[in-house]
Parts: sequence; structure tokens; C-alpha cells
Amino acid sequence: MKLLARLSPLALGLTTAVHAFSFDLDVLGRAPSYTDLVSFDNYSLSLLGQRLFLHSGEFHTYRLPVPDLWPDILQKVKAAGFNSLSIYTHMGSINPAPGVIDFDGYRALKPLYEAAKEAGIWLVMRPGPYINAEISAGGLAHWLTSEVAGTLRTNATDFHDSWVPYIQGFIDETAPYQITEGGPVIAVQIDNEYSQKLGAEFFQELIDYYHASDIVVPLTYNDPGQNKNFINGTGAVDLYGIDYYPQLFDCSNPYDWKPLRSNYLQYHLEANPSQPHYSPEFQGGAFDAWGPTAPGYDSCATLTGPDFMDVFYKHMWASNAKLMSYYMIYGGTSWGAMPFPGVYTSYDYGATISENRVLRNKYGELKRQGFFIRSSPDFYKTQWLGDTLNGLKVGAPEDTFVTHLLNPDTQAGFYILRHNDSASRDNVDVPITIQTSAGPIDTSIVLDGRQSKIILADYKFGASSSILYSTAQVYFAGVIDDRDVILLYGDEGQDVEFAIDLVGENNAEVPEGVSITEGNTTVVSVSTTTGLLTIHDSDAQLVLFADTETATGFFAPTIPDATADFGNFWSYGTNNTVLVGGGPYLVRTASIDGETLVLTGDLNTSTTATIIAPASVQAVKWNGVDLEVSASNVSSKGALQAALPFAGLSEQISLPTLGGWKYRDSLPEITTGYDDSAWTIANKTQTNIPQKPLYGDGRVLYGCDYGFCENIVLWRGHFNSTGEQKSVNLSINGGQAYAATVWLNDVFLNTSYGNSTNNRNPIEERDLVFNFPEGALVDGDNVITVVQDNMGLNETNGGNPNSSKGPRGIRGFQLDSGNFSDWKVQGKVGGYTDFPDKKRGVMNEGGLFGERAGWHLPGYDTSEWEERDLSQGLAEGKAGVGFFVTTFDLDIPEGVDAPISLTFEEELGAAYRVYLFVNGWMMGKRVANLGPQYKFPVHEGILDYHGTNTVAVALWAMEDEEVSPTLALTLDAVFEGGVGEITIDNPQWEATGREVE
Ligand code: GAL
Repeated sequence: MKLLARLSPLALGLTTAVHAFSFDLDVLGRAPSYTDLVSFDNYSLSLLGQRLFLHSGEFHTYRLPVPDLWPDILQKVKAAGFNSLSIYTHMGSINPAPGVIDFDGYRALKPLYEAAKEAGIWLVMRPGPYINAEISAGGLAHWLTSEVAGTLRTNATDFHDSWVPYIQGFIDETAPYQITEGGPVIAVQIDNEYSQKLGAEFFQELIDYYHASDIVVPLTYNDPGQNKNFINGTGAVDLYGIDYYPQLFDCSNPYDWKPLRSNYLQYHLEANPSQPHYSPEFQGGAFDAWGPTAPGYDSCATLTGPDFMDVFYKHMWASNAKLMSYYMIYGGTSWGAMPFPGVYTSYDYGATISENRVLRNKYGELKRQGFFIRSSPDFYKTQWLGDTLNGLKVGAPEDTFVTHLLNPDTQAGFYILRHNDSASRDNVDVPITIQTSAGPIDTSIVLDGRQSKIILADYKFGASSSILYSTAQVYFAGVIDDRDVILLYGDEGQDVEFAIDLVGENNAEVPEGVSITEGNTTVVSVSTTTGLLTIHDSDAQLVLFADTETATGFFAPTIPDATADFGNFWSYGTNNTVLVGGGPYLVRTASIDGETLVLTGDLNTSTTATIIAPASVQAVKWNGVDLEVSASNVSSKGALQAALPFAGLSEQISLPTLGGWKYRDSLPEITTGYDDSAWTIANKTQTNIPQKPLYGDGRVLYGCDYGFCENIVLWRGHFNSTGEQKSVNLSINGGQAYAATVWLNDVFLNTSYGNSTNNRNPIEERDLVFNFPEGALVDGDNVITVVQDNMGLNETNGGNPNSSKGPRGIRGFQLDSGNFSDWKVQGKVGGYTDFPDKKRGVMNEGGLFGERAGWHLPGYDTSEWEERDLSQGLAEGKAGVGFFVTTFDLDIPEGVDAPISLTFEEELGAAYRVYLFVNGWMMGKRVANLGPQYKFPVHEGILDYHGTNTVAVALWAMEDEEVSPTLALTLDAVFEGGVGEITIDNPQWEATGREVE
């Protein structure tokens, strides 16, 4: 298959491309091991010799641990007109132990690659090994943070040896899916966000490794700031990019915008002028921290909402960026031990697609931008002719910022406007003089607050149509049934005009609110109007206008060419599309079968679709059902109306109340005579973790050094009573927002709390004296038991790559009199080398007794357990740990996508933590005294929508106080449609082969 790399696009049969640019094999000057099918110049990327605007978003498949749902995200991104996704892979899950490479289940890449090929989505893969991503250790496998003596992310030999098998595994999975093999992968990023000073050799080693491998696509990089890392010299990549998060990550005041930096283009021209302007991550949302004052993800969605996207993304367009990826487009869930200490379970991110896969209002703006870019190939190659801050004279008032971009080949011009003060809410009619092939033209355009708009000059669309200028915005342009079709739009209440060559005999009447002045070119003025208007309707051309909302209701699904390579990749394998408007929530796929337009998609209400399709289309099928179809008056040909019926299946959904809880104590470790002889003895005196023990007797009590790197770890320190001991001093390190509860024998001493990350005073470790109450000491052997939550490992902090090596555990231990004999440690069964649950993986479990016994797994027999309601909390209102388990049945109708959450209903404040297991998967960590998360979306596929489900709540009460959690199932939304059948694969307790306790 390597042969493909040497073939030209024509030889590949890519003759359907309308905008084939000349294919110059010398354009690149890159290493000979690379394919020419991916190339770039100073303007843009080209694939198969054809330019594209890489229009992308970030998606982490491991944060949606149900591979059958991945096509849902891909289809939603594709349906917005986007053409690409950017994907971090997670070393921590894929390479859980030295020498173990596991691409099964949610760790797999193949299903993603197949789904991307199917959906027609290009992929930029970002395997790290370091990815940052608000994930523990920035994605590095936990074992290497303790096993590698050398500095992480350097050329230290043992660090090198630690990433090779993982990167090789990634290469083996990925190489067959590169574009050269007919696959979707077009680039691979080297590591992530680093400094060349620290990591030049490490980067070079990665690059050399790829060069010697079957990877033939370009290597890219994501710089954390305007630092010019890895552009030249050792470790330099092929294509440099930079990430921008202009609103940063505090969503508390979502309407207060930070100012827009105006030097993006200038920096690019200084840094890498011979390359296209690439932002591998531009802010698509924000992460949120632990703590009662954390604003939650809806605030992040507001902060980065449609107005932000409009103003800031188009500012990047104005800075001539031609590769943009929005981080995140779907955030998902940092389930199990995934999060780094700074974030909680939800990684919703306020992204366009929410954690439960529902489309936020941001999706409308995504579509407007996606379809404009898809419709406008002239925009893929533009020169920056100036902006009003740098001397561009367009006659606009001073408080308006205008940039002029021009396609040097076609002379298409793009004037991008916004207020100078990006946060301004002023509503102004901006006069402007633009340059066209017919000379300068005076016009005006309304900027109503936080908006950005584009005035077009000499804009070509379809096969041969042209617009001389337009203050109306382009939603869609293309060819349908050999006819040039354009859908323009404007905000309700704002006047717009466009000058267009109208072609062919018009069948439409002039709509109300529209005036058409014939001349050399015809000028169409539209004032204050709503709905969809037909401006011109001939055999050669269909010109439509709509208000913004109506336009945004349209989808333009790709109609794949089943016979072509890249048959579903827009403008590579096909240029065929139809317009489907009028309010379907989502149009996923389209094809034409004889006279029938076959659509799949989702509805959340009944609606009537307006369809513009080839005239041969007489019938429409929606999700397999024939629709009632009639002619539409939008056009004299190829326009249909189809009733999309919402069956109201939501009425058939009733979620059960969670009840019938069974209870069992999960802390036998504090009972007299508990036998810990099978536990690991913690007697190491050496560690590779740079933060050494603070005090004690030289023993290192760091969980990861004993194979227990994630989730809850238990420690037992034995000492002989002298009769004198009154206290123990413990310095406990759990990462920010941790907790550790300490007992002497069966007597609760206290809990050590790490503060919340947004409490201004982050604490990852505390040194406390735990006093022994009268009578707690017994004769002979005494045991200090510590239940400790490990919140994950840090990302690279303050330029120190070794900051991901964390001393999670007990950094200091000292009795006020006498010494400890044995220290014992227990984490997940088998540690990272031998954990039994290969399906759910190394991130899922911790070391609680109930987890070790498998009580969290479906199928565990709880019939002998005590009946006790969750709201009764632990017995006697004591500090401790108990498991509550129940089952419930779901009977969700087929053909429905109905996201469900598990929601804690009581107020924040009580001192408890919950590890929430659903069918064995740890889908949430509830920290009731910190918050903010109380609602935990659980994906279909983890939940069985047509069967019995098990929920297990590991409840850890951290004080001698009553706690009273209440948990309910909540239905978040109901869509008729969905991605299709979801496989359920939740191994039962018996199948994990673990022993009974
Ligand atoms: C970027 C980084 C991402 C993620 C993001 C914040 O700088 O590359 O991995 O951490 O910040 O969400």
C-alpha cells in the first residue's frame, strides 16, 4: 500500500474535486521519508494536492469509554461542516505497566480510525507521550513516574526506554490508517507544550523514531505560548503550531471578557513565515476546579459561547490562520483515576458538545463557521493586506477593527470586521469602502455588540457564480443538481445588500422586504425580514436568503461517493450535498438511492423540513421511515417539504427510583485482629521520586513505589505499645483536594484534608499531629490505618518535567514515643502489573476492601448483605467506609438517545466522598464537602438501556458525623434517532477472576 504515497491525486481517482490546485511535489522540502500527499506552504495545508482549511476540534476517545458512541461525536462534528478532529491518546491507559501495550476497548484506535474514514473526518493524532490535558501526570503512564530514575521528558535513557513500546504500539495501530493508505490520519504531533531548552533531545529522539518507522505524515507541535519552540534546530518539527486560551480558565464571571491580543499574525510572521498559521488548540471551553466556589461548566460554556466564538475565532481567521482546532469540541468524562488534581470527574469543558453529547447553543455558531469555510475554497489561500490598526484605510470609524484578506489567484476579498474593543456591546452601522473588480464600493454593515462579520468581494460560488460584494453572510454555497446554490443570511432587523450576477430565467417573485436593482450586476437589498426567502430561482442558480436563526437550522450533509477513495471526505471524494432545514435537531448522514433521499438524524420535536435536493429526488426516508413529502415553494425544482414526526417516545421513558440498597462495611482493616499478612510490606528506602521522605526512619511510603499508583491506597503502620504513646505525626501527600482519614486501631483520629484547587491556597500535602484519645491504645500490637485518596499526579509545573513524579503517600511518620515496626500498603488488587479487570483498565479501581473483593462489579452477590438505605449513611454515624449496592432496570425505547445522569440531590457540605461505580465503572468521584460536581452523566454502553444495571456507592465518611447522601437517576434529554445500537460489554464479577475475600 505504500505505493499510494507516490501516486498523484488524479491517479487516485480524485477527479471530483472542484478546487484542484496545482500539485507541486517540491513545495515541501521535507524529509524524503514523508508522503507528498500532505503538504503545506506559507498559506495552508494541502491534502492530495488540494488546499484545505483544517477545521477541527479536540476529542479524547478515552473520555468517552464506549467506542460505539465515538461515531456520534464524529457525525456531530461533521454535521457542522467541519473536516477534522485532533486526538490525544492516553499512555496511562494504553501502557499500564512496563511492557504491557493494550489497545482493547476504550483504549483502541482502530474503531476511531474506521469511524473517521466512514464519517469523512481527517485526524491529527497527538500521542504525547506527555499530553497535559488535565489528566494525571499529563498522560504519562503512572508506573514510569516511579520506575524512571532519569528526568521525565528528557533524553534520559530510562525515560527513552519507557516511551518506546507505547509509541511503537501507536505507530503499529496508526500507520495503516494514514492518508497514504486511504486512511484519515494526516499528521502526528510530537509530545505537547514544552520548551526546546528542556526537551530538544527528547523531541529529536521522538522525531528520529518516527522517521525510522512507517509514519510518513508530517510531524507537528503545539507551543504553549509565543515562545518559538521547535521551529528550528534540534527537535524541530515539520509544522509548528501554537495554542491560545484568551479567556484562560476561570469561568466565574462569564460575561467579562479578557481583551483580545492583536499580535497573533505578527507573531506567526516572525516565528514561522514559510509555514501556514496553525493553532492546534484554540480555546473551545475551559476546565473547572474543585471547590464550592467553582462556577461549573455551564459558566464555561457561556464564557466561550457563540459570541466569543464569533469574535475570537474570526480574529484568528483575520490573522490568516488556516488550521484551527478547538479544544475541546467534546470534553467527556475524566472517569476513574484520570483527572489530575486540579479538576473533578466531569471534563465537560463547556464545549460545544456537552459531556452527555447534547449540542449546546454554541453548535449553531459552529455550523455557521463550518459551512462558511466549507463553502468558500477561495478563503483557503489568502494574503493579509492589512488591518485598520496597521494602516488599512477603508473609511470605517476608528472603533472598528477591519482586516482585509485577498486570494491572490482569484482576487476574492474578505473584509473581517469587529469592534476594536472586542468586548464592546455597541450597536453601530459601520460605513466602509471596499475594493472590488468593479472599483471601490461604499457600503455599510451593522455590528451589534460582540459580533464579527465578513464582507465579501468578488466571491465565487458553485461552478460559475459570483458575487461582486455582500454584506450578507454566507451560510452555504455549493452545487446541487448542476445548479449553483447559495444561502445568505443576516440578523433579523439589520439591512444587508449584495451585488450578484443572477443567471437564468427567474421563477421567483420578489419577496417582501427585498428590493432588486438591476444594473451591470444586480444589487439585492434585504431589510428586516424573517424566514427563508427565494431571491432568484432558475435552472442555473438558486439564491436564498434567511435570517440568522432560520439559516442556522440548515444542515448540508455530505453525500458520499461510494466508488471514490475518500468517498465521504468533502471536496476530496465528493462535492455532493443537499440542504435540509427547518429544524431537525441533527442530520447525521445522507445518501441518494434512486429517487429517494435517505437521511439519518435526530429529532427533539416534530418539524417540517425544507429540503433542496436534486430534482430527481421524489421521496425521503428519515431513519428508515418514509416521510410524507410535498413540493416546496422555495424553488421550482428540487425543493421538497417533508414532515419529520417526533413520536414522543419520551413519554414511554420512566426512570426508576433508586432503592432497595444493600449495605456492607468496607473497612475491616480497623477491626481488632484484621489480618494484613498478605499485604505488601512497605520497606523500601530508595525512590526515584525527587521529593524524598520528610521524616521517619528512611522508609519510603509512596504508593506508586509498591505498584499502587491510583485511587485509594490504604496504609497500616504497626507499633508496639509502650503505654506512653499519645500521638502520631503524619505528613500525608495526596495531591490537591485530597483527603486521608486516620485511625488508631478502631478509633477514628482525624482526617487530613487537602484544600480545594480554587480556594486560593492549594494544598497537596499536610503535616498533622493526630492525638490518641484516652483508651485507644491497646497492649501489644497497635495499628495506625490510613485511608488515603490519591487525586492523581501533577502536570509539568513551572518548567520542571519531574513535577509529575509525585510522592503520593505518607511523606513523614513519627510516633511521639517509640517506633513503627512494619508498614503495610494495599491498593488495587494486583497493583499496576496484575490488576484483574483488564476491560475497565488500570484507572478504574482503588484499594478499598470492597473494591479488592469486587463489590463494585455487577453480578456480585449481595443477598446476604444488610438492607440499609443510602440516605442512612454509615452505621452509627461514624467515620468509615461502607458499600451500598443496588440494581435497577432500564427499558429505554429503541431508536432513542436519552442521556441519563446519576445525581446527588442533597446540598453540599457533608464530610464524605463517594466513589460511584456504575456496572463496575468508576464514573464519578463525589466530594460532598468541596463540590462542585453533584451530577454525573453516565454514558449509554456503560449503562445498559435495555437491561439490569448495578450501581455501587463506596461511601467514605470522613468525620464522626451522620451523612445522608441521596442519589437519583435523571433524564437529561430525549432525542429520537441516535447513533444506533450500542454494545454492552460490562464484565461481571465472576468474569474478572478475582478471589472472594
Ligand atoms: C493546553 C494543553 C492542553 C490542555 C489545555 C487546557 O495548554 O495543551 O493539553 O491542558 O491547555 O485545557
